[in-house]
This record gives sequence, structure tokens and C-alpha cells, in this order.
Amino acid sequence: MQITLETKPTASLETDALVTYVFENGDLTQGRAGELDALTGGLLGRLSKSGEISGKALEMILLHAPAGVKAARLLLVGAGKRDQFNTVTLRKVAGAALRHLKSRSVHKLTFLVGAGDATEETAQAVAEGALVGDFETDKYKTDKKNDKFIDHLAIAGFSEGEKGVGEKGIARGRIIAEAQNFARDLVNEPSNKLTPTILAEKAAAMAKNTGLAVDILDEKKIAGLKMGALLSVAQGSVEPPRMIVITYTPANPRPGAPVVGLVGKAVTFDTGGISIKPADGMEKMKYDMAGGATMLGIMKALSALKPGVKVICVVPATENMPGGRAQKPGDIQTAMSGKTIEVLNTDAEGRLILADGVHYAKQLGATHLVDAATLTGAIVVALANVNVGVFGSDQAWTDKLLASAKAAGEKMWQLPMDDEYREFIKGSFADIQNVGSGKGGGSITGAWFIREFAGDTPWIHLDIAGTAWNDDAKPWLAKGPTGVGLRTLVHLVTSL
Ligand code: BES
Ligand code: ZN
Ligand code: ZN
Repeated sequence: MQITLETKPTASLETDALVTYVFENGDLTQGRAGELDALTGGLLGRLSKSGEISGKALEMILLHAPAGVKAARLLLVGAGKRDQFNTVTLRKVAGAALRHLKSRSVHKLTFLVGAGDATEETAQAVAEGALVGDFETDKYKTDKKNDKFIDHLAIAGFSEGEKGVGEKGIARGRIIAEAQNFARDLVNEPSNKLTPTILAEKAAAMAKNTGLAVDILDEKKIAGLKMGALLSVAQGSVEPPRMIVITYTPANPRPGAPVVGLVGKAVTFDTGGISIKPADGMEKMKYDMAGGATMLGIMKALSALKPGVKVICVVPATENMPGGRAQKPGDIQTAMSGKTIEVLNTDAEGRLILADGVHYAKQLGATHLVDAATLTGAIVVALANVNVGVFGSDQAWTDKLLASAKAAGEKMWQLPMDDEYREFIKGSFADIQNVGSGKGGGSITGAWFIREFAGDTPWIHLDIAGTAWNDDAKPWLAKGPTGVGLRTLVHLVTSL
């Protein structure tokens, strides 16, 4: 989709559909409603009076051949209350408008931002919302309707003098949205099309295209480095594991700057292993590599945004299968760090591969860690599909992340990490055990397990099991992978 900035006055915008947002309570003094009302001879005022325009969030009113403007259609999208309007709403409005028009075979749209809203942030939000909204999960459908596409989005409401900031916003929005869609595309792949080997190939291709350094460790190198925790999960599958390492190094690194380690869980399919999962819904476990995909997407974005800090991305990739060589409950494994682990449940495999991932990221020089993982069903119980679960070992580092989440408009909620929970995973026959001893707090004990390998290095864990996958399509987003976490972490790294 081409995205351009348009500086022509509203009446002369020639387009398939002119889109703008209106606010609740029929308030036509805000946004572009007043201007459009005047141009169309009071049309908006009449619709508002009759109650047809309410401005309720994401209400869609499509008007054909409106008088007074050159646009073939006028789409008025409800944006809710004016005082709550922000870039989060704007992204949703843009995405929902695009999906609404695309389904009606419109190909070109012009999105008109409100008077006073012509900023870099709004242009970014519209571009980002539209590109993320445009993403579909129909890759493997053979009966795609090929007249349903948007090939051109113009963003209007900017003056000649504001063109520069607008175009900057569009460029930034495109970088972030395309990185998010890259991650979503990986998550959407079924496990027969995305083995650990194929994921590593795709990651390497992305790194090559973006000029990032890449190192793919195969099963021999993984064994040579004694990554026993990763190997223990991989041994139940005929597909070999991979450890994917992608590094971004700034041109002029600031002396003393942090080195960020981004570690993402990539279980390309989680059957549970010998502690096998029930059949119902197991097909969704193809998204158990969403943490890894998110981190790879972040690296893609960073290659273009060029932050001033070094970032090392480590993605342990494996299947979790109950093959004849699979590890069994009670098995004791030695992680790369030397710690011994009693595997009480082979379905708690994410923390095992992250143990080696986190240790390796530290060994490569990371001074600050963030991991992202679809780690626990318990986080769905605690926070549903609304908030990402946040766990941290260092409050200053965690506060930075929470501030970035706020700025990026992603909902995240911190959970406690009291020492009492650490007791739950003390091992009986080894140093630690991979599940808590039946006292609840499943997401916290999972986090504590990973923390054991982060040691004193400031560390954050994001449990995205509830938020990485959308069970139902939203007006602004297709069903399936969300790419959650990417915007927050891109914000965090670029603001360091
Ligand atoms: N991949 C799952 C977690 C998950 C659950 C992701 C639901 C997405 C949706 C993880 O590997 C797992 O199976 N965790 C177990 C841990 C338990 C055995 C301690 C769980 O949550 O049941
Ligand atoms: Zn599992
Ligand atoms: Zn898993």
C-alpha cells in the first residue's frame, strides 16, 4: 500500500473515499466535522440531529456522492469522547476505516485528520493503524477475492508547511507497522510451514536484507555450548533446534550505554511433550513462537530506526514433541549456566529454552534483559486477553518499560515477584524444578524460573500468552496474531 501526504484543501480532494473522525454527542465543532458540514450544505448537522451520527467509538457512516466535495464517498468514523482521543484511538479508527472500505472493494482512500491534529504523531498513527489493519491471515486460502484491497492511502489535513513532519510520521509508522506485520506473518504460519530451521532461515534472510549481523547456531553448536535446557525440549522432536542470534550495533555507540538483550520464546509447536496437552484447541499452539517472532520484528524495525544502543536478540527455537526420545517427567537436565533442573512437567518447556537463551544473551554482553514468551495459561486466567503480564527484577528498568508501554498504547500490568514465590520452585532432587509445587501463582513461578538465569542483570519478563493471539477479528485487526509487545519494546530501545 502506497501512503502519501496530501496538502490540498478538503473540498478538492479527489478520492474513492474521504475518511474523517467525529466525536460523541454530535459535537460538530471538533475535528473536520464543522468544515465538512459547511461544504455539504449542513448534511452532517442533519445526520447528527436525527441521531444517525452518534460519534460512538468506531461507528461507521458511509455516505455516497456527497454534495460539495469531490470525493466519491464520505466515511465518518466515530472516535468516542474528544477528551479521551489519542493516538491509540486514531490507530484503531484508521485501521477500522481501512478494513470497512476494503471489504466494500474501495481501493483508494484519503484520511483527513482534524484541524489542529496535523502532527508527526497523528500521521504515524494513521499510517501504522492502516498498515496493521490491512494485514490478513488468508495466505493459504486459494479462493481469495482479489478485488478486496486498498492500494493507496493519502493522509490529508496537513498544510505545505506541515508536510515534512507528516512525511516523517508516515515513514516511522511504516517501519513499525511492517515490523509488526512481519512478526504476525511468522506467528500465522502453521508449524509444518515454520519449523525451527525455517524460522532461522527467515530470520537470517531478514537480517541480511536489513544489514544486521546474524548467527544461527545449529544443533551441533547448541550441544557444543552445553545448552542442555534447550536440547532437552528439542530431543523429543525429529526437527532440530536452532538458536537465532541477531545483533544491531549502532554506528557511534554511546560509552557506557546499556546493551539490551531481547530474548524471545520460539516453540514452533507445543504439544506439551510427554505431559501432553488435551486435543481441544491444541492447534493454537503454533503461536507458541510469538515471543521470538516479536523480537525478530523489533530487530527489523531497529535496523531502520537506528537507535544509539546495541541490541542483541536471542531466539531459542524448537518444537515440543512427545517423540520416543522425548524427555520425561522427573528427568534432570543441566542448563548452559550449570544449574540443574528437575523437569516435573514437560509442558513447562518455554522457561527451559529461555533459561539458555537468557544465559547466552548475558554471555554475549547484554547488560539489560527483556524476554517475551507465551509462557503460561495462568496469565490468561489473571489478565485475560487484555493486559500483557509484566515481571521484573529491577524496578527502575521495569518502570522504563511500563512508561514505554503507556507511550506506545499497549496495555501491560506488573505482577509481584516476592521471594516467597521463589521457594515454590526450589528443587527436591536438583537445583530447581520447572513447575511450582502446586500452590498457584503459575505465571509468577514461571517468571521466577527465568529470573534464576538472569541473575543480577536487570531483567523483565513479558508473558504474552493471553495477548499474542486474537480469537476474534476486531474492526481494526484481523483474527489471529497481534504482534503485541513490539511497539513497546521499540519505544523502550529507541528512548534509551
Ligand atoms: N505454551 C504454553 C502456555 C500457553 C497457554 C500459551 C495458553 C498460550 C496459550 C506453555 O508452554 C505451557 O504449556 N505452560 C503450562 C505450564 C504449566 C505446565 C506449569 C501451562 O500454562 O499450563
Ligand atoms: Zn508448554
Ligand atoms: Zn509453550
